[in-house]
Amino acid sequence: MNFYLFLPIILTLTNAAPVDRRATSTTCPTYTIINTRGTAEPQGQSSGFRTMNSQLTSTLSGANVYNTVYPAGIDQNSTQGTQDIINKITSTLLDSPDECFILEGYSQGAAATLNAMPQLTGASFDAVKGVLFIGNPNHKSGLVCNVDNNGGTTTRDVNGATVATGQTVPENWISKTLDVCIFGDGVCDTAHGIGINLQHLQYPTDTPTQNLGTEFILKQLGG
Ligand SMILES: *[C@@H]1O[C@H](CO)[C@@H](O)[C@H](O)[C@H]1NC(C)=O
Repeated sequence: MNFYLFLPIILTLTNAAPVDRRATSTTCPTYTIINTRGTAEPQGQSSGFRTMNSQLTSTLSGANVYNTVYPAGIDQNSTQGTQDIINKITSTLLDSPDECFILEGYSQGAAATLNAMPQLTGASFDAVKGVLFIGNPNHKSGLVCNVDNNGGTTTRDVNGATVATGQTVPENWISKTLDVCIFGDGVCDTAHGIGINLQHLQYPTDTPTQNLGTEFILKQLGG
C-alpha cells in the first residue's frame, strides 16, 4: 500500500481544530497578563505565576502573557520595569482599546508594579481588571486587600520590609488588588520573618497560593 495515499487523511485530521472547551469572558474576550518577576529570576515568566497562569490560560480563552522586561537586579532598581509595564498597557490599548489587563508582581516585581499604579489613570486604570502580588516588600498593614496564601487574615496587619519608603497599594486600587503574603515571609511579613527566607520562596510551589491566584484572576476577568 502506498503511504502517500494516507497523507491527505493525516493532514485533514491535523487541520481539524480541537474542540475548544475554554470559556470566553464577555467582558474580557482578550486579556494580557503582565507578570513582573522577582530579584535574580531570569528574564521571562516569573516562577511565582507559572502554575496559575497555565491554569488560567487553559480555562479562559483570549490570553496573552507578557513578561516585563527589566534587569530584576540585586540593586532593587526597578524603574525600567515600571516604565515597561506602563508602555505595554498604553501601546496595547492603542491597537486594542478593549483589551483587559491583569498585573502580577513577585517581590521586586511587586514594587515595580506598585510604582506604575499611580501613573495608570483613565483608560489604563479602567483596563486593568486585577492586580496580584506575592511576597510584596511594600505590603502595608491593615489593607483589606491583604491575605495570606489561604485567603485568611494572618498577614493582614503586618508590614513589608520597605513599606516606609516604598509605594503601597493606592486607595483607588485596593478593591481590585490581592496582596498575598505567606505568614513568616520576611519580605512582606516583617513581624514574623526576616528577609528572603523559605516562606518568601514558597509561592511558586505552593498550591494554596496558585489556586487563590487563579480563582481571583478568573473572577476579576469575569470568567
Ligand atoms: C535606576 O535605573 C534607571 C534606568 O533603568 C536609571 O536612570 C537610574 O539612574 C537608576 N537609579 C539609581 C538610583 O541607580
